[in-house]
Amino acid sequence: MIGVFDSGFGGLTVQHALIEALPQRDFVYLGDNRNTPYGTKPPIDVLTLTCAGLERLFGEGCTLVIVACNTASVVALRWIQQQWLPARRREDGVPRNVIGIVVPTIEAATGLGWDEEPAAAGEAKPSSTIAVFATPRTVESGCYPIEIRKRRPDITVVQQACPELASAIEQGVPRDDIRTLVEEYVGELRRKATPDRVILGCTHYPLVAEFFAAALPRGVPIIHQPQATARALRFYLDRHPEYDAGNAGQRMFLSTGFSAEALPLIERFWGDKLPFRQA
Ligand code: DGL
Repeated sequence: MIGVFDSGFGGLTVQHALIEALPQRDFVYLGDNRNTPYGTKPPIDVLTLTCAGLERLFGEGCTLVIVACNTASVVALRWIQQQWLPARRREDGVPRNVIGIVVPTIEAATGLGWDEEPAAAGEAKPSSTIAVFATPRTVESGCYPIEIRKRRPDITVVQQACPELASAIEQGVPRDDIRTLVEEYVGELRRKATPDRVILGCTHYPLVAEFFAAALPRGVPIIHQPQATARALRFYLDRHPEYDAGNAGQRMFLSTGFSAEALPLIERFWGDKLPFRQA
C-alpha cells in the first residue's frame, strides 16, 4: 500500500497521475482538508500536521508515503527524512520512507537528473524564464529558485504567491471567482516577467489549470508536476522492492473532513464520484 498525503484535495492531481502510471499498485490517499490551507500556516504547524498525516498512513499499512503537498514538502520533508523517520524505522522495525514532489519537478524543469552535473549533460539546453505559482510558504522557502539555479544558472525563476487560491478551491467558491483570482495572480506575475514555461507548484492548481492556461500567454507550456512525480515513483519502486506497494489495484480515500461545496470541481477533475471516508 502506497500512501499519498496532501493538505486537502490538491493531492488528487498527483494521485490521479500515480494511478494512471501504476494501475496495479495499491494506494491510500489522505487529505487533511480540515486543517487546510497549509500554505499560510507557520512552518511548525505544517510540520506537526504532516507528521500526524504520516502516522495515520503508516497506521493503514503504508511503508512508503508520497508527500504530494508542495508546502509540506518544502517546509517539513528534509527534517522528517533526516530526524523523524530514522527513529520511526527503529521503533517499527520495518523499512519506511517518505518522498516528496520537489525533486521530480526540478528534474522536469531543468532537464537534468537530480545527481547529474550541468557540465555532464552534453549539449547546452535552451535557457528560459520559468514562472512558479505556489503558496506563500513555498514561495518564501525559495526552494524552487534555489534548486533550479544550482543546476541551471541560465534559467531565470520568477515566483508568484497565490495566497487565496488553494482555500478558494477547498471552500468550493464559484468557478468564475476562482478564474478571477487566477487572472489576478497571473497578471501580477506578468508585470514582473514574461515566462516561457510555468510550474504550478501547488497540488491544488492543476485542478484549475485551464484558468492558468487561458490567462498565460498562448501556448506557454506548464510543467506537469503530477506526471513527473508518477514517472519518478515508477523508477523508485523498481529500485526499492523492499517497500510493499501492493498489486491488487486497491484504492482508499481518507479525509479529515471537507466542505461538500468543493466536490463538484473536484469530481469534475477526477471524472467520477470519490468515495471519501472520515480519517
Ligand atoms: N496542496 C498544497 C501545496 O501543494 C497547498 C495547499 C494549502 O495551502 O494547503 O502546496
